[in-house]
Amino acid sequence: MSTTTPTPSHEAPGTTHNGQAPKAQGRRPMFTYERWRESIGIPIHRGYYMEDLTTLELGLWKERQAQAAFIELVGQEGITETRVTEIPPRGSLPAVQLAFDEVVYVLKGWGATTVWRPGSSEKKSFEWHEASMFMLPRHYLHEIHNTHGSEPIRLLHYNYLPLAMSAVPDPTFFFADGADAEDRARDLDLKQFYGEATLRKEEHEGVLWGRRKEAWVGNFFPDMRVWDRLESNATRGAGGRSVFIEFPGSEMTCHMSVFAPRTYKKAHRHGPGRAIVIPTGEGYSVMWQEGKEKVVAPWRPGSMLTPPDRWFHQHFNVGSAPARYLALHPPMQFYGHAEKIEDRAKDQIEYVDEDPWIREKFEGELRARDLTSLVPAEAYEQRDYTWSTSAAASQAD
Ligand SMILES: [Fe+2]
Repeated sequence: MSTTTPTPSHEAPGTTHNGQAPKAQGRRPMFTYERWRESIGIPIHRGYYMEDLTTLELGLWKERQAQAAFIELVGQEGITETRVTEIPPRGSLPAVQLAFDEVVYVLKGWGATTVWRPGSSEKKSFEWHEASMFMLPRHYLHEIHNTHGSEPIRLLHYNYLPLAMSAVPDPTFFFADGADAEDRARDLDLKQFYGEATLRKEEHEGVLWGRRKEAWVGNFFPDMRVWDRLESNATRGAGGRSVFIEFPGSEMTCHMSVFAPRTYKKAHRHGPGRAIVIPTGEGYSVMWQEGKEKVVAPWRPGSMLTPPDRWFHQHFNVGSAPARYLALHPPMQFYGHAEKIEDRAKDQIEYVDEDPWIREKFEGELRARDLTSLVPAEAYEQRDYTWSTSAAASQAD
């Protein structure tokens, strides 16, 4: 069978690739977002994954007075934006106002964010550090500060701007300030806005990601490395547990999965546009289009990957501690579940049905670390094998 571990290659600044280089896009003209992004003049990193965002090459974004770069992985194009920003020790970014919601994940460093409504003197500030996540509400001003004396900050920003700029092909609209934006800003209770997340529970059975029966709702999650309000997610195997997160007043959502050391999750597939980052753990993901070559994306804290549209993908924990991956979701219309949701076999591969190479590679990776697999032998023999919740809890903690 054909498998590949693509060798990252580096081209001229602005077009670096990580993983197998995607094919050229042909001769279609650039759409508004692409033209705007090119005009900024900072690097655009492309590929199937980024192994380390904390060392990624950046360039000066003059207007924002910051070192930054865009990342566009295969499967994100035209849907979601990710970019990395660096702020030097004791530095601050000038106040910016966005006409869209933006989620920020802290890759490294210590800092603070101040948020306020245009024209208002009431400001809300909160402090954060590595693996914090917060949401910047549309039409509010925000300022980001590095509060550390010697370490730079690196942030990962995620939003739906590529889509929005096709609906309103006027880049200035999204960064405008002044009276119009002041009118558009909603009334937010800033005292509560970055307070503790709350659990939303509904009686009916949830059917869609992003609007499930249970979700944690909040704008500030101080440390995704230790978040422990997790539900069992037995269907994907590996003793996995998850948390689903909604940002209030926004369509943006995400989830984080925690899974046991020396195990791996079942292959599955869905729509494009996700950005997956790693709060803790060491492992890799395998991604493939049905019947095609496999791409191996190694990961650890600081890595990012995107499963391309309807490619199977599978996550492997080769460490001796639980691994966590945080998946920032695209708009719900891109989730892309199978037409027949009851036929999960179309979108998930049980352990008994998987390519033998999957298990061989996993056990080989563990051997290289003097470890052995904790995937139960029964999982490879019984199609309906289910990891028990209690075993899941003990392994995933
Ligand atoms: Fe997935």
